[in-house]
Amino acid sequence: MAAQAVLSSKAAAFQARAQRPAARRASLVVRAAAASAEVPDMGKRQLMNLLLLGAVGAPAVGLAGPYALFFVPPSAGGGAGGTVAKDALGNDVKATTWLATHAVGDRSLTQGLKGDATYLIVNNEGAIEKYGLNAVCTHLGCVVPWNKAENKFMCPCHGSQYNAEGKKIRGPAPLSLALAHCDVNDDIVTFTDWTETDFRTGEAPWWN
Ligand code: FES
Repeated sequence: MAAQAVLSSKAAAFQARAQRPAARRASLVVRAAAASAEVPDMGKRQLMNLLLLGAVGAPAVGLAGPYALFFVPPSAGGGAGGTVAKDALGNDVKATTWLATHAVGDRSLTQGLKGDATYLIVNNEGAIEKYGLNAVCTHLGCVVPWNKAENKFMCPCHGSQYNAEGKKIRGPAPLSLALAHCDVNDDIVTFTDWTETDFRTGEAPWWN
């Protein structure tokens, strides 16, 4: 009888152990189902990734653009490396418009290289001269006016004078007015650096 009781209790224990993994598996299935309900499917995950990329990437690109531009040297402001001449109102100088209102021999100020006041010359052929003259006096930097009656540039500050080509003819200015190349591209007047010999003096350009 006692042996029968022992056998019966062992059978009960075995049955309990046999049922435990089944219960655990059921629990795992329930938890996995719950987890899969929380995890978005692949399409949703890709959409979320794209949104995240956009949220982080757009401001990053927005910041990177100006940051990169910080390292780009400022443009001279004209095509082909030149500086577009500007009139008194800050507009680009157009050759046809300029020549319609400026007669042969005219020397009028424009804004040229590095923002310096620069004379644009209408030559004897009625065209824009191939060089411009920097209007800054080589003595102490006054802007030198063109005196049409005298046919020369006369500095009001200390009396220096320059001929019609800007060559110094009277001091105290030590040097002639600086030259700049002047070209017309698609009707736009453009200044570029003059690096060649100064045709007025036969010397190397002092302004380089
Ligand atoms: S600044 Fe022109 S002569 Fe002195």
